[in-house]
Amino acid sequence: MADSAQHTTIWAVGGGKGGTGKSFLSSSMASCLALQGKRTILLDADLGGANLHNFFGLIRPRCSLTDFFEKKRPLQDLLAHTGVANLQLITGSLGSLESESINYAQKQKLFRHIRALEADHILIDLGGGTHLTTLDTFLLADKMVVVTVPEITAIENMYQFIKSVYYRKLKAIFKAYDLTGLVQDTWKERATHNIRSLKDLISHLRSGSGRIADIFDREMSGFVVQLILNEVRSSKDILTGENLKHVCVNFLGLRVQYVGPISYDPAVQKNINDKQPFMLFNRLSPVVKEVRQVTDNIVHDTPFNVPEDLLDGRI
Ligand SMILES: Nc1ncnc2c1ncn2[C@@H]1O[C@H](COP(=O)(O)OP(=O)(O)OP(=O)(O)O)[C@@H](O)[C@H]1O
Ligand SMILES: [Mg+2]
Repeated sequence: MADSAQHTTIWAVGGGKGGTGKSFLSSSMASCLALQGKRTILLDADLGGANLHNFFGLIRPRCSLTDFFEKKRPLQDLLAHTGVANLQLITGSLGSLESESINYAQKQKLFRHIRALEADHILIDLGGGTHLTTLDTFLLADKMVVVTVPEITAIENMYQFIKSVYYRKLKAIFKAYDLTGLVQDTWKERATHNIRSLKDLISHLRSGSGRIADIFDREMSGFVVQLILNEVRSSKDILTGENLKHVCVNFLGLRVQYVGPISYDPAVQKNINDKQPFMLFNRLSPVVKEVRQVTDNIVHDTPFNVPEDLLDGRI
């Protein structure tokens, strides 16, 4: 078990606002990986709205995360078939992951069990919000994926989500390396040091100490947020993803990778209503091709290539 667990890639799909397509895309990317022959597990960790089974036309599985927390059943025992070969589902439960009653020890136990699941890929659908458990689960992942739609409220929520994740990560680094006092003192003196943002603060700390620079290089080297822009309806929308990436890089100093746009297609809603897994029943939709491309980009850590003429403003 330990050996196969070492090769498991954990994905978390989050992004602040509700209804941006996180569950649709987690289930579609998981289907895509499973159809390529990868052993894949989908974990529904949505706040009060566990609904991934709907994307496979399943009735709600009998076992859920509640059995893990309340009946102490191993996560491995909660796997349900999805009807897609190589793809299994662990369903969530009302308030399960977000509940204030989930204590630190239970959270750590959940993370241990997730890491020990036997699979090539585990995709965690996080739902909306910036609850601490949501942020910590996001940070647990090797592939941190955010989904937004090109609307101002969704974009703002996504930016807040990324910022909250980054703060949480930094806080953990400061604590682990005993830097909290230094950070607080530097922040109090920020006017003297001409520090106006978090990005300035980190630059200041890095330039003042080789040890701190090394710590940041080591701890942040794998920190890449993968951005998907869903429900795209125009060329202008496609560019929104690229602009968002630049905002995160410029204002937070974070590595955000735009892995691609997904078109708006009414067939998505129709498929859910018809209880058919989208990736199996909709081979003609552009969304199928786009999901494959986005999944591949995330697997290989490759950005989406925005067409040159779009960047030039020619289309
Ligand atoms: N590319 C798309 N084209 C058309 N409709 C879409 C697309 N992506 C998602 N939808 C629709 O948007 C709705 C919301 O999708 P989904 O449930 O995946 O969002 P969510 O982010 O998981 O929401 P929540 O935060 O509430 O869990 C669904 O009804 C789905 O059919
Ligand atoms: Mg959802």
